[in-house]
Amino acid sequence: MRTPYYLYDLKLLDKTLQQLVFESNNYKIHYAIKANTDIRINKIIASYGLGADCVSGNEIKHALKCGFKAESIVFAGVGKTDQEIEIGLNNDISCFNVESIQEIEVINSIAKKMNKLARIAIRVNPNVDVDTHQYIKTGVNENKFGISIENLIDAVSQIDLCRCVELVGLHFHIGSQITNFRNFEFLAKKVNYILDYLYNEGVDIEHVNLGGGLGIDYENPQQNSFPDFHNYFNVFRDNLKISSHQKVHFELGRSIVGQCGDLVTTVLYVKEGASKKFAIVDAGMTELLRPALYGAKHSIEKCLPINLKKEKYDIVGPICESSDSFRKGYIIERLSRGDQLRIKSVGAYGQVMVSSYNLRDNPKVFYQNEGVSNDYPLKQTIVMN
Ligand code: LLP
Repeated sequence: MRTPYYLYDLKLLDKTLQQLVFESNNYKIHYAIKANTDIRINKIIASYGLGADCVSGNEIKHALKCGFKAESIVFAGVGKTDQEIEIGLNNDISCFNVESIQEIEVINSIAKKMNKLARIAIRVNPNVDVDTHQYIKTGVNENKFGISIENLIDAVSQIDLCRCVELVGLHFHIGSQITNFRNFEFLAKKVNYILDYLYNEGVDIEHVNLGGGLGIDYENPQQNSFPDFHNYFNVFRDNLKISSHQKVHFELGRSIVGQCGDLVTTVLYVKEGASKKFAIVDAGMTELLRPALYGAKHSIEKCLPINLKKEKYDIVGPICESSDSFRKGYIIERLSRGDQLRIKSVGAYGQVMVSSYNLRDNPKVFYQNEGVSNDYPLKQTIVMN
């Protein structure tokens, strides 16, 4: 099998979804399509009855193709084009999460031309800071996302003026890869405040969408292959004050698919530098951008045979950029040319962010136990094609 390739574990995906469905109980969960658009993965997720969170017209079409129901598709994004709004309206999606007052007017005028009524949730920027990389924070005032609390009443008045849009919900998404649950607690409390404030202004809301953001364990994926859905939802059960007629929605991406993917790569060269050793592998930032873009640290494991000796390496890709590095000073079994490695936890925001920079080929995709010969994990029987 030619490396690099993505290898997905659909059994782990199933187990993750079972836990999610159990723990989320009566909350409505939308899968954030952007995290992974693999058709088999998306079809499995849709089969569990989840809705879809889309951020482009193409994601809406893709979600429908994979079996997500139009009535449970939500459409977010600060820059929806007229054509994308038409796709949403044509398919009668559940809701547009609007991110500016001007967008409300535009959706209204397009809906009017199409003789449709657009259901709208206002994406509120709650100004809640989170403990994550600054590039993936989305809920503080300096971020481009959502409508500020100060402008909320103006947005509601704008909706009142428009005959072809209807306010059904509020939407929040404060960021991604959040593992400090206090951040979600702050969000829940801010949402309570906003709901009270709107209620006092005579505005009643049908559903509240808390977005996604639940993080996964990148350092110890084997020990923690499931996210802590139980405590995550409990934060909201304990802190969110919702009336019995209000429905609570979430949009999870990474926590559903993140641990279900590995990137398999081969060591091309081992090189002694002036002060360190480099292991140069055949995957690079073109196949997995997260380390170069966010300094993300994915765990890396060597496939068989076992080498009891360990050494320290910078594990780097072949791309002509110094940021093309997966781990620096990483201690791993001694490596030689031809050894295969697995870069773990790449099921979310891995394959979807592949680029063809340096005219690289797109990596192939395989599914665990289906035609992949790769001595990993230990003693696992893997069918060969
Ligand atoms: N809802 C909205 C409106 C979003 O923008 C996102 C992610 C989600 C839900 C899902 O968030 P999740 O549950 O996956 O954290 N490329 C970055 C992550 C970007 C996340 C973008 N928005 C990374 O590799 O870490």
